[in-house]
Amino acid sequence: MTLEKYRTALVTGASTGIGAKLVERLTGAGLTVHAIARDASRLDELAQRTGAIPHALDLGDTAALEELVPTLEVDVLANIAGVSRMGNVLDSSRDDIDALVDINLAAVLHLVRLTLPGMVERDRGHIVNISSIAGHYNFFGHTAYHATKAAVHQLSRQIRNDVLGRRIRVTEISPGRVETEIFARNLGGSPEAIAEAHKTYFEGYESLTTDDVANSIEFALRSPEHMNVGLIEIMPTYQVPGGLTFDRH
Ligand SMILES: NC(=O)c1ccc[n+]([C@@H]2O[C@H](COP(=O)([O-])OP(=O)(O)OC[C@H]3O[C@@H](n4cnc5c(N)ncnc54)[C@H](OP(=O)(O)O)[C@@H]3O)[C@@H](O)[C@H]2O)c1
Repeated sequence: MTLEKYRTALVTGASTGIGAKLVERLTGAGLTVHAIARDASRLDELAQRTGAIPHALDLGDTAALEELVPTLEVDVLANIAGVSRMGNVLDSSRDDIDALVDINLAAVLHLVRLTLPGMVERDRGHIVNISSIAGHYNFFGHTAYHATKAAVHQLSRQIRNDVLGRRIRVTEISPGRVETEIFARNLGGSPEAIAEAHKTYFEGYESLTTDDVANSIEFALRSPEHMNVGLIEIMPTYQVPGGLTFDRH
């Protein structure tokens, strides 16, 4: 039960979905949790409910991260925030590509850069990165999203080489479909968009819940110190990845 050894966590994507659920779990376990997202009112509600410390900022703002993060002693860095886009690379705008790379990958790298030296100094730390089955399998979806998540997969493995000999663990969680707001955001994020996304992506399907993902993260965090849970892939039982497509000419 090593969770008790960790005192402070930094969770991104904390305003909704998987991140908000993880904040509930970690505050419930007695950790001081710093919660990052842009939506200040949702973060305030989360803070009142859980005791987490809210930081309303945009993860694309590297200067803001450089100002905040070195002031914290982060034992658990949970890179949960992420964005997706509709279509594929043929439909991409410059903004789509920039947002996917900046939030899904660059912010993760910067947060690792800013927290890892302190973990090394204290010889204590755990980094949890959320990738996606999109980072492991080819299927129709946004190509840049797949690319950023594949990078998160490789990064998660690579960090372990950088900290070999230190009591620092790195866990990648790779989920299939989870019922959150991520799809509705691409439709505008309004209550109507949430209803439409629910109909398209979730109605009639058994999806993962945010509790399922939080359980996996807790398993990794609570594993004994000598054990690094490197990768957990979780999917709904009725979802399978991949498939071979052959276009007839
Ligand atoms: N849901 C799925 O089916 C699924 C499957 C595989 C992997 N994932 C991954 O799981 C992670 C969590 O997603 P979710 O499903 O919980 O989606 P979600 O409910 O849409 O949550 C996304 C979170 O990221 C934050 N965020 C987005 N852009 C940000 C920015 N520029 N600066 C700061 N925070 C930002 C959002 O907060 P604000 O809007 O308040 O900033 C929100 O808290 C993502 O990395 C996603 O790729 C999800």
